[in-house]
Amino acid sequence: MSVRIHSYDVNREFTMGHPVDYTRRSDLQNVDHVFKAEITNTVNLTEHEKLFHIRILDPTERDRFHFHPGQFVMVVLPGYGEVPISISSSNSQRGHIELCIRKAGLVTDVLHRAAPGSHIGLRGPFGTSFPVERMRGKDVLLIAGGLGIAPLRAPIFYITERLGDYGKVSILYGARTPKDLLFDYQYEAWRRIYNVHLDIIVQEPDETWTGKVGMITALLEGMEIDPDNTFAIVCGPPVMFKFVCARLQEMGIAMQNMFVSLERRMHCGMGKCCRCNVGSTYTCLDGPVFDYWSVINQKEAI
Ligand SMILES: Cc1cc2nc3c(=O)[nH]c(=O)nc-3n(C[C@H](O)[C@H](O)[C@H](O)COP(=O)(O)OP(=O)(O)OC[C@H]3O[C@@H](n4cnc5c(N)ncnc54)[C@H](O)[C@@H]3O)c2cc1C
Ligand code: FES
Repeated sequence: MSVRIHSYDVNREFTMGHPVDYTRRSDLQNVDHVFKAEITNTVNLTEHEKLFHIRILDPTERDRFHFHPGQFVMVVLPGYGEVPISISSSNSQRGHIELCIRKAGLVTDVLHRAAPGSHIGLRGPFGTSFPVERMRGKDVLLIAGGLGIAPLRAPIFYITERLGDYGKVSILYGARTPKDLLFDYQYEAWRRIYNVHLDIIVQEPDETWTGKVGMITALLEGMEIDPDNTFAIVCGPPVMFKFVCARLQEMGIAMQNMFVSLERRMHCGMGKCCRCNVGSTYTCLDGPVFDYWSVINQKEAI
């Protein structure tokens, strides 16, 4: 059977409402290049998720590597495969990146067994990013469910490192149980930042939990926002987008001002293998970040 190989034409028309972004030409320079990298440290976050600190070995390549919040890398384990993982650290941090990885199957299982000092490959960074520059001067709602806090951490860092440039910042995070909450060691620091509001909720409390109980949408109840002046970034399972974005719409936020990160099975990460398409759109090239208006106008997107 013949396979149509798509070239990554940066000038082609986008089908999901994004303007043609000519600057992506530079982002696509590293598509085939594998950066040799080392796992320098791992932190157990929960039973299933680990945070990996990763350093590109070559100092020149390390300096060259730059990403935008919301982008992902392909983690390459020769002999096992490659997996797309969102970069979960600050893009102002030079020297290493952080990846929060859930043990889900073959490649991620091997990664979870890798000790500090292990060598891996990185390709990328790939994909679209959250338009944090466009959000300057506005209030921002950063909303995550479960593992969605992993991609959300990069825009959280970006915005909290430049607080004077933004209005009110609210971080809303929901998980199934208290044990599933990721990055709990960071909450106190986020709470202490002036103008940042952090609210957390779980669906199934245990005997230790004294916080809020319910679905993440409950955190939006009674919240006062200025809808014309507010952007939202929503990360989590697709079912959560539907409910959260519907609620945000009721609160008056335009769908073009809500951004979500879509996850699809990916293989190449660069528009060649046709594994990640939603309709005629490749999630690896035109996403993973989309505005919600584009998502609901595309069949099978969620
Ligand atoms: C843009 C993007 C960013 C991602 N960011 C992260 C991240 O920050 N942290 C993280 O832990 N995971 C992330 N993922 C999901 C991660 O890529 C998959 O869990 C991983 O590819 C599974 O590979 P595996 O070989 O371990 O599992 P496999 O053996 O390939 O599969 C195991 C199970 O996982 C399911 N699965 C595989 N890939 C996906 C996927 N893309 N989405 C949903 N289910 C999948 C399979 O259907 C199967 O049930 C991201 C995915 C995408 C597309
Ligand atoms: S086309 Fe290969 S992952 Fe998108």
